[in-house]
Amino acid sequence: MALAIRAEGLVKHYGETKALDGVDLEVPEGKVVGVLGPNGAGKTTAVRVLATLLRPDAGHATVHGHDVLKDPRAVRSLIGLTGQYASVDEDLSGTENLVLLARLLDFSRAGARAKAAELLEQFELTDAAGRAAKTYSGGMRRRLDLAASLVGNPSVLYLDEPTTGLDPHARNEVWAVVRKLVANGVTVLLTTQYLEEADQLADSITVFDHGRVVAEGRPDELKRRVGGQTLQVRPTSLRDLDVVYRILGDLTGSGRPATTTRAC
Ligand SMILES: Nc1ncnc2c1ncn2[C@@H]1O[C@H](COP(=O)(O)OP(=O)(O)OP(=O)(O)O)[C@@H](O)[C@H]1O
Ligand SMILES: [Mg+2]
Repeated sequence: MALAIRAEGLVKHYGETKALDGVDLEVPEGKVVGVLGPNGAGKTTAVRVLATLLRPDAGHATVHGHDVLKDPRAVRSLIGLTGQYASVDEDLSGTENLVLLARLLDFSRAGARAKAAELLEQFELTDAAGRAAKTYSGGMRRRLDLAASLVGNPSVLYLDEPTTGLDPHARNEVWAVVRKLVANGVTVLLTTQYLEEADQLADSITVFDHGRVVAEGRPDELKRRVGGQTLQVRPTSLRDLDVVYRILGDLTGSGRPATTTRAC
């Protein structure tokens, strides 16, 4: 399968911090790859390198065959980026934000207005189109952010934690938008801290930790590896252990649980 993104051996160090410590990443055309990892794992750093915003110390990456270092203009013409933090201008309305971006991308005046109207409609923001973005709810702002990253009709979209901080309803709206884009053939690289989000949207998941890839696979494969549930119970008195075993056995339908007994 053709690759939309291929990164090999990406390294980026900030002093002692190894933000990226030899990352390989492949995103097939038309697929969604989720990069999952905790705070500081290197997700945003990887996105910034792939978006030509940051030079890696070592390694190389291509987007549809164009090298991010040697041919950044070609890469930029193919990609859209919704950064981790809102990038729209708070004082401009939804329409003004999108028209501004379209004009910067060389749309004609009429073309820019038409593109803005089309995106606002697609993201169900038409009713709020004339209001300043600072009056939007978190979910609406995120949708406007997403709309902004689509003005240039990207074939590859980077979404850096698109739903962090959103309530379940707003999160579902963003997920629906992403699914629609993918149905239209857009390739998506999505970072997230939530296995559930990667599971919902991604065809495959790459797990980052401390700047390294620590696991990779389809969501169901990864869940099978890490999906067990753990219940830790500490009775106030050791004498109650047998009762606790019995109750837990009844509750979980399992045999005697694994125990560690420590004198406290
Ligand atoms: N400009 C910078 N200067 C110094 N250190 C940086 C810089 N950018 C990132 N780092 C460090 O690199 C590491 C990776 O950061 P990065 O932002 O890529 O993580 P992340 O996975 O996106 O985390 P989060 O989930 O919190 O957004 C962190 O330890 C961070 O402090
Ligand atoms: Mg980040």
